[in-house]
Amino acid sequence: MTAPRDTARPPVLALRDARFAHRCLDYTGGHRHTVLEGAGLEVAPGERLVLLGGNGSGKTTLLRLLVGLNWLDGGTLELDGERVRDRRADRTRLREAVQLVLQEPDDQLFAASVRADVSFGPVNLGLDRAEVERRVAEALAALAIADLADRVPHHLSFGQRKRVAIAGALAMRPRVLLLDEPTAGLDPVACDDLLAALEAVRAAGTAVVMATHDVDLAWAWAREVAVLTAGHLTRGPAHDVLRDEVLLGAARLAVPWGARVSRRLKRTVLRPGEV
Ligand SMILES: Nc1ncnc2c1ncn2[C@@H]1O[C@H](COP(=O)(O)OP(=O)(O)OP(=O)(O)O)[C@@H](O)[C@H]1O
Ligand SMILES: [Mg+2]
Repeated sequence: MTAPRDTARPPVLALRDARFAHRCLDYTGGHRHTVLEGAGLEVAPGERLVLLGGNGSGKTTLLRLLVGLNWLDGGTLELDGERVRDRRADRTRLREAVQLVLQEPDDQLFAASVRADVSFGPVNLGLDRAEVERRVAEALAALAIADLADRVPHHLSFGQRKRVAIAGALAMRPRVLLLDEPTAGLDPVACDDLLAALEAVRAAGTAVVMATHDVDLAWAWAREVAVLTAGHLTRGPAHDVLRDEVLLGAARLAVPWGARVSRRLKRTVLRPGEV
């Protein structure tokens, strides 16, 4: 089930009736592990969406499908209302519009300097040098890591590497930024700084979608929440979805702290985005 979006703006990115199973090959000839069984999701421009689900529910798989690292077995992926197929022109269109930041920065960083890493995507878009430099400077500034430009990525701390990985995605100026567990492993100040940086990106028009099982983060940050249970997505305003004990329980998640407090006070004192 997919609830309507909170906005009349047409979606940038949409999954419709998405079906997907991982193929697991072994000596028995292999089997399939179903992850999505008819899931739907629409991402509107500039939206602030959290994708919630327990361990193994399929959050990472879903993000990989949205960016074309895996392809659906059934249903459709649409960009600007047009179906995206597994062919070169469509993959390029998707890569220019949608960027995924992986949970582990070390799965993403490979260059000898931060500057080289962040410039990799824009260089591969065929942009001229001045434009590449402009984008790199802008992305480093957005993540407050301009001072790290000449450092070797694997000498940096985990939180710094995470910022570099996000800067690399931002340098592509995506219309949709997908982040897999972006706050995992960050200290509280680094977490707040990252959320502020993401909010600035979002306010400039990029849709920001983060996958997490941190319900308190979702309560504090999200406008809209989509919960992944048994291959389906249930979506709605954060304030409603994050109070739905039955739904959260089915997803192996707890009601967020803010929602519990507000319920106990029997009035709404804390709303998403205010804690
Ligand atoms: N490459 C793969 N081959 C086979 N099965 C896979 C593969 N990747 C993931 N899976 C399985 O698909 C299911 C969904 O995994 P996924 O990593 O998408 O979950 P997740 O919600 O991101 O979990 P977590 O919160 O632990 O990150 C799990 O049961 C997992 O074991
Ligand atoms: Mg995951």
